[in-house]
Amino acid sequence: MKFRFVFFSLASAAIAGSLVAIFYAWQPSIAPIVSEGPFDSALVRKGAQLALLGDCVTCHTADGGAAYAGGLAMPTPFGTIYSTNITPDPDTGIGHWSEQAFVRALRAGVDREGRHLYPAFPYDHFTLVSNEDARALYAFFMSRDPVKAAARPNELPFPINIRLVLAGWKLLFLRQDRFVPDPARDAKWNRGKYLVDGLGHCGACHSPRNLMGAEEKSRGFAGGEAEGWHAYALGASSHAAVPWDEASLAEYLANGFHAMHGVAKGPMANVLDNLAQVDRADVDSMAHYLASLADRRSEAPVEVAPNARAAAPSGPGKMPQAAGAQAATPAVAGDAGAAIYAAACASCHESARPLPLGGAALSRSSALTGESPTNLVNVVMQGLPAADGTARPIMPGFADVLSDSQLIDLVHFVRERFSGKQDWTDVATAIRAARSTREFARRSTANNAR
Ligand code: HEC
Ligand code: HEC
Ligand code: HEC
Repeated sequence: MKFRFVFFSLASAAIAGSLVAIFYAWQPSIAPIVSEGPFDSALVRKGAQLALLGDCVTCHTADGGAAYAGGLAMPTPFGTIYSTNITPDPDTGIGHWSEQAFVRALRAGVDREGRHLYPAFPYDHFTLVSNEDARALYAFFMSRDPVKAAARPNELPFPINIRLVLAGWKLLFLRQDRFVPDPARDAKWNRGKYLVDGLGHCGACHSPRNLMGAEEKSRGFAGGEAEGWHAYALGASSHAAVPWDEASLAEYLANGFHAMHGVAKGPMANVLDNLAQVDRADVDSMAHYLASLADRRSEAPVEVAPNARAAAPSGPGKMPQAAGAQAATPAVAGDAGAAIYAAACASCHESARPLPLGGAALSRSSALTGESPTNLVNVVMQGLPAADGTARPIMPGFADVLSDSQLIDLVHFVRERFSGKQDWTDVATAIRAARSTREFARRSTANNAR
């Protein structure tokens, strides 16, 4: 009797639970429209700036494809997701989308027909975007030339291929709140936070993710993975040898490099190609906000080897390598790594030529002092390809020249010599990953060069 009662209560609870879940999961289709244009040109211009801040073009453009026509393959730990066509083509793009449908997609991750979208589309950040900014983005996209390009089906395993599953994910991880300014802070700080946390979706790469692919908000900016690269910890958890401050952040975000930190590489280069075209005041606001996160350093000091700081140069033309070398323990890897460094790297990296054409002093690079060997391995293997028309630095790739064991010796040697920090333990894994994703890497560097 009692057992039957328990069974029925459980069963009814399960049914009620599923009804709630289905109610939450179900989203109405929004009626198609013909056109809401033409749009005010000032609004369209504002939308263009916001689209750059949101990196829309980077994800929604395939290699060699038309801008915003979608089709870029995005490998995730769960499978490959393809971005969609967001030009106003009525059949294959968003030509039939009303402003309401567009804004719902942007801030709630639901398409016009009511289907849940994968969070590879960073709507968990775009949810902070204001009504006015969402409107401007809509005006911008609806004023593009329509391009006919059907979306490629995603390659995801069961049950992740079922979009309804995303309703559960959203219930757990998506907080649909608009941005609320902090009255205790000034307008610049609030503007910076709005852009960094919202459209800029910096945490999408720079924060760690849990097993279900959701950002760990409690460990915001503690460093994360992005397309085979490591997005370094920012703010209070940064491992940069020379601490970032507002001025250096602003210069790096605006120009793509900073003399004390080196050049932006991998997916960060794409982000900065976009930021190079936005209003400098917005970049300065982001730098202002990010710099304020580093102020927590004094409250909760992170482990930064003192000698790494000491290795910071005191003026141009100084050779900070020498300072780092004094502090570092002798390389255990023995002479093999040192010999490779002397033969393959020193000629450029100790030439004291200024950035971006000379190699930076390695002791200043987060590739050496950072929490992960991934980017160092990527740079050494792929090099930095020449880009058309811009003063981008060039470094040859060594993937075909150095064997895995030579790469390991080299990485251990330069880590110890230039960072004075404890050696990494996962170098072999990083090299294996870099070799297996070389095809992808080649593609994304081709993107950078575009
Ligand atoms: C990090 C990559 C990324 C960025 C940045 C990004 N998107 Fe997307 N977006 C995607 C992916 C992937 C999808 C498809 C998701 C799916 O299939 O569930 C998508 C889907 C969409 C959709 C739904 C389209 C449809 O047909 O269902 C809209 C609208 C959209 N994005 C607009 C934007 C806008 C506007 C921006 C810039 C503010 C932007 N996206 C930035 C990856 C991105
Ligand atoms: C698509 C992923 C991605 C996004 C989005 C992204 N970053 Fe990055 N970021 C990276 C990667 C990867 C690196 C490492 C680049 C390198 O090795 O040069 C990086 C490096 C940086 C660095 C240098 C850190 C150091 O110690 O050298 C800063 C600062 C930074 N990003 C700030 C930002 C800000 C601000 C935003 C948002 C506007 C942002 N990033 C958005 C991936 C990303
Ligand atoms: C032909 C000159 C050249 C050679 C040879 C060379 N580099 Fe570079 N390297 C550069 C330039 C230029 C840059 C870009 C400027 C910068 O960031 O240092 C760079 C960047 C780097 C960076 C990224 C620094 C940062 O965070 O921005 C690392 C790490 C690096 N090189 C390591 C090496 C290693 C290790 C070797 C030897 C296997 C090597 N390089 C050989 C020219 C060279």
